[in-house]
Amino acid sequence: MAVLWIGVGALGRRAEREDDGGGQAMLKLLVIVHALGASIWTGGHLLLALGVLPPALKAGDPMPVLRFERAFERLGLGALALQLATGLALARLDLGRWEALWSFDPGIARSVALKLLLLAATLALALQARWQLIPRLTAASLPRLAVQIVLITLLAVGLLVVGASIRLGGLGL
Ligand code: HEM
Repeated sequence: MAVLWIGVGALGRRAEREDDGGGQAMLKLLVIVHALGASIWTGGHLLLALGVLPPALKAGDPMPVLRFERAFERLGLGALALQLATGLALARLDLGRWEALWSFDPGIARSVALKLLLLAATLALALQARWQLIPRLTAASLPRLAVQIVLITLLAVGLLVVGASIRLGGLGL
């Protein structure tokens, strides 16, 4: 995580020098990596919520959900860490200063602050599922985990929608 943080920080500083073509290339790279991380996190949860979960709930069988969680865990949490690091670097570039990140000023700053709140809610739900629900998962507790999965998926789609609005000036809130 520390290596990721230093790497993204360096990319951000390079991208800040707008007059230089290399800086623009770095900015593009940050957006591409951020979009890739979004595809993994949001796509993975849509597949889980819409493809794996409904038949598992119908059969009352937690095994398919457990198998998916095991396969996706490292990739998913890695993608989320990448989203935070690249998202903060992009927000610093879009807003020009760190303090604006939690200023809730109308426009882009408000959308960025909203993304940080959505991410905090995501982390709380994901860590609670990982440490409390999944290790003790049974057919009886599967519906409880299902609620958590649907909420995390809705938050992921929300993060994507708010993100896509940023280059158009924010959500207009
Ligand atoms: C799972 C979490 C996240 C998802 C799914 C997500 C998704 C996205 C998507 C799809 C975009 C549009 C990229 C484009 O313009 O083509 C975006 C942009 C952006 N995101 Fe995120 N994001 C996440 C987390 C974060 C976090 C934690 C931050 C930090 C505040 C953040 C800050 C930004 C910013 C500033 C942009 C605008 C980039 C630009 O065009 O300049 N994102 N995000």
